[in-house]
Amino acid sequence: MLLAAHLLTRFDPHTGTIPGVGESVRRLSELAGYFADEAAYGAALSKGDPIVYATSGAEPAAGAGDLHYALARLMPGRIGGEYYMTKGHYHAWRPAAEVYVGLSGSGAMLLEDEAGEESSLVPLEANSIVYVPGATAHRTINTGATPLVYLGVYPAAAGHDYGAIATRNFRSVVVEVNGQPTLLDRREYLAALGQGAGAYRHP
Ligand SMILES: [Fe+2]
Repeated sequence: MLLAAHLLTRFDPHTGTIPGVGESVRRLSELAGYFADEAAYGAALSKGDPIVYATSGAEPAAGAGDLHYALARLMPGRIGGEYYMTKGHYHAWRPAAEVYVGLSGSGAMLLEDEAGEESSLVPLEANSIVYVPGATAHRTINTGATPLVYLGVYPAAAGHDYGAIATRNFRSVVVEVNGQPTLLDRREYLAALGQGAGAYRHP
């Protein structure tokens, strides 16, 4: 059993890739509806369809006590004032927590409780570890000028629930204000963009 498991994985901390393992890629066109500034999103997409992030997952075993992990590379960029980010998700098995380890670049994790009442912006960069409690929506954001590379480790049974975020998005947005990453209420940001509350989908 011990010898059958994948005990060692070597990776590149600057690209977040595992030699010999294919990446799952998310391009800008696959993030329709996630960025608040719809006009800026359309303008960016008219110029091209860049990779926003890529992940390489490892699933050594799927028993009750096993762990899965994934490396990710989130590219730098912005759509309007909002930084490039992942879609974000809950775990399908809500009690499942996760540990993120920053490897290179600089960014943050946006965490939100399921009631949508509390949001936290936690730095994620080299030599930092972020603990994501269970039942917490989590999204990664690149606030720097270079790729943000990180590792996430989670229970094999966690699963991913993207549907809740796809339906209502996060309550908060992270935008650049005076050169600094700033957590803003989505409704207020949409109002400032002139998009109004109609574009606000959170209950
Ligand atoms: Fe996760």
